[in-house]
Amino acid sequence: MTTLKNDRFLRALTGQPVDMTPVWMMRQAGRYLPEYRATRKQAGDFMSLCKSPELACEVTLQPLRRYAMDAAILFSDILTIPDAMGQGLYFSEGEGPRFRKVVRSEQDVEQLPELDTPRDLGYVLDAVSTIRRELNGSVPLIGFSGSPWTLATYMIEGSGSKDFRHAKAFMFNQPQAMHLLLDKLARAVTNYLNAQIAAGAQAVQIFDTWGGVLSTHAYREFSLAYMKKIVAGLTRESEGRHVPVILFTKNGGLWLEDIAASACDCVGLDWTVDIGAARARIGEQVSLQGNMDPSILYASPASIREEVGRILRDFGPGSGHVFNLGHGITPDVDPDNVAVFVESVHELSRQYHQGQA
Ligand code: CP3
Repeated sequence: MTTLKNDRFLRALTGQPVDMTPVWMMRQAGRYLPEYRATRKQAGDFMSLCKSPELACEVTLQPLRRYAMDAAILFSDILTIPDAMGQGLYFSEGEGPRFRKVVRSEQDVEQLPELDTPRDLGYVLDAVSTIRRELNGSVPLIGFSGSPWTLATYMIEGSGSKDFRHAKAFMFNQPQAMHLLLDKLARAVTNYLNAQIAAGAQAVQIFDTWGGVLSTHAYREFSLAYMKKIVAGLTRESEGRHVPVILFTKNGGLWLEDIAASACDCVGLDWTVDIGAARARIGEQVSLQGNMDPSILYASPASIREEVGRILRDFGPGSGHVFNLGHGITPDVDPDNVAVFVESVHELSRQYHQGQA
């Protein structure tokens, strides 16, 4: 067991006192960094980068060399699971992910294989253990997966979507087949996250990027129910420490109480939510992660600093907040603005933790 030099992130996730608010960024290893673009070029394409544990480790560490991030996130993608199920994932330049096969019938669902994580996704586990070794206890490593609903949308649509017409028609017309698919995915995600934890992930995040396109009723039945099932099946202690779980439903602001009742440790917030109001609603039960609008990183250093200050003030004093963006950083942000963001969080948050750590 290595001792962590910086455990601020893990402490804030469970509401323990910290000296300053921890910060990391969704998509912190990505195209806004020239060194990321160089490594991706070396790998040839995005999936080859994901499938090389050494190169995935390299890009995971790149943002940590530039900025004082309080956590590293495994470099991979949520679509590794459908890829391992044989759906034929590929990325066409500038168009996002695509699948050669789509799921459109109950028979298609039945034909999806049950995954054997070490055999089918061993490259991800190798990346996790390689990154843990290279981090050498500097900061904790976050593992992740997509939510069953979010994975299902890509598998049914065959790509990203604006209106989710196929996924929603499938849900309304063939609810039984949809539940069968979500159940299969929930089992795969549980095993996948537990394998990441066994390989060294110290916290895990479930990305429910498209839960927010559902009605309240459908969200509970087709997205949240399966995330709850996953949380109930996760390893919650490893290496003598609690393994926190973060649930992030983009556009889930209406359902914070339901999400907090899922037995997760932390609820991820997008930027549409007032973090002070969110704290009043669920802050007794869970910690909060978020929630700066990523597009503020296009603004001036003074504006970035002011917005960081506003969010810290809205959250207020005490622990239980992990600073992050409300969604992933965009590819054309100036890397220098990210430095301003991270430094502002650390500097401006100290006053809210005085006498507490
Ligand atoms: O946060 C991190 O730094 C870890 C790496 C990470 C990636 N994808 C790398 C990536 C994580 C956590 C993800 C999750 C992911 N992938 C989600 C959920 C989170 C979210 O952003 O909503 C989703 C929906 C995907 C599916 C996916 N992968 C899409 C839609 C795309 C294309 C997006 C785009 O901007 O073109 C990807 C590709 C992808 N995943 C990239 C990265 C860095 C860009 C690929 C490239 O290098 O060209």
